[in-house]
Amino acid sequence: MSNVLILSRTDVEFVLNMKETITTMENAFRELSDGSAILPQRILISAESGISLYMPAFLPQMGSLAVKIVTVFEQNPEKYNLPTILGKVLLQNPETGDVISIMDGSYLTAMRTGAVSGCAVQYLAKEDAHTIGLFGTGVQGATQLWAVYEARPDIRLCKVYDIRKDVAEDFAKKMSKKLHIPSIKVVESPHDVVKGSDIVLTATTSPIPVFRGEWLESGTHISAIGAYTPKTREIDTETIKKSKVVCDEMNACLDEAGDLIIPINEGVITKEHIHAELGEIITGKKAGRENESEITLFKSVGLAIQDAAIAQLVYDKACKMRKGIEVEI
Ligand SMILES: NC(=O)c1ccc[n+]([C@@H]2O[C@H](COP(=O)([O-])OP(=O)(O)OC[C@H]3O[C@@H](n4cnc5c(N)ncnc54)[C@H](O)[C@@H]3O)[C@@H](O)[C@H]2O)c1
Repeated sequence: MSNVLILSRTDVEFVLNMKETITTMENAFRELSDGSAILPQRILISAESGISLYMPAFLPQMGSLAVKIVTVFEQNPEKYNLPTILGKVLLQNPETGDVISIMDGSYLTAMRTGAVSGCAVQYLAKEDAHTIGLFGTGVQGATQLWAVYEARPDIRLCKVYDIRKDVAEDFAKKMSKKLHIPSIKVVESPHDVVKGSDIVLTATTSPIPVFRGEWLESGTHISAIGAYTPKTREIDTETIKKSKVVCDEMNACLDEAGDLIIPINEGVITKEHIHAELGEIITGKKAGRENESEITLFKSVGLAIQDAAIAQLVYDKACKMRKGIEVEI
């Protein structure tokens, strides 16, 4: 018999903060770049009612061994009053292999996805960035903004845009209360988002580009986290062509990121156009931003190392703070 710590979404929310999550992501990407991380490809099962994804990873230096199970079951809301996308993480003891915790995966995913963009901004955005333009004011949009503000606290203005204006307005109100950004305002068009922004964030479900590369001004940094299939993209070919591109992991992006795969298939760029993986920038193997005028772009599709690393952080903090319920199995 052994004990398993059950952690609800409320527990995960209670213990996590963005600063620590960014540092944890930085360490996970460093370990990936050093070559010690074990990151198998995600396994996908098409069940009768939906898709089930299994994302395992092991970070020996951080002592994190975990698997996240994410499901996309379209009929859930109507039939079972459950969200379409559900996720839970099983954290293991790396010494014994035993599962020591089962925790909610949705908030944790949003935090780790935001934190990686925050981490990329530290290396790729201008030091004095003061304006953010955000596309997509859903779940990920909130943690993207939070993490980037943590990385660049001099932000004075955030312009937000969503195809659902009411959602964008609620977001602006909610985030104005949560963060101390002097102004978060809803703008009317994609062009308004990009114009004058030092950092552009895309966190949408759009299958087609959300802005045009010709609108970009020199020195902009873009973080694109929304698209994750070979045929969909938030970023157009022009943007990719004019950017110094950094990805979370090369093979994952070449398999899944339409933002990069489509321009490669068009023959406009080759995969050599991708400058580096984020871990190579963090470890100093390759340069991050080199001058004030270059346009930089970070593309993430999301990696299981992020989930393993954050799950360990959540578990350690929950034990210290006496959160969760222990169940003997
Ligand atoms: N890279 C990663 O690690 C990672 C992690 C989690 C989620 N995601 C992806 O991020 C995307 C967003 O996820 P979410 O949980 O925030 O979804 P969400 O549904 O909560 O929010 C997406 C928002 O994008 C808006 N939108 C759609 N098209 C738009 C457009 N053209 N311009 C502006 N806004 C537009 C929608 O109206 C919605 O408000 C999804 O595609 C998801 O799969 C990526």
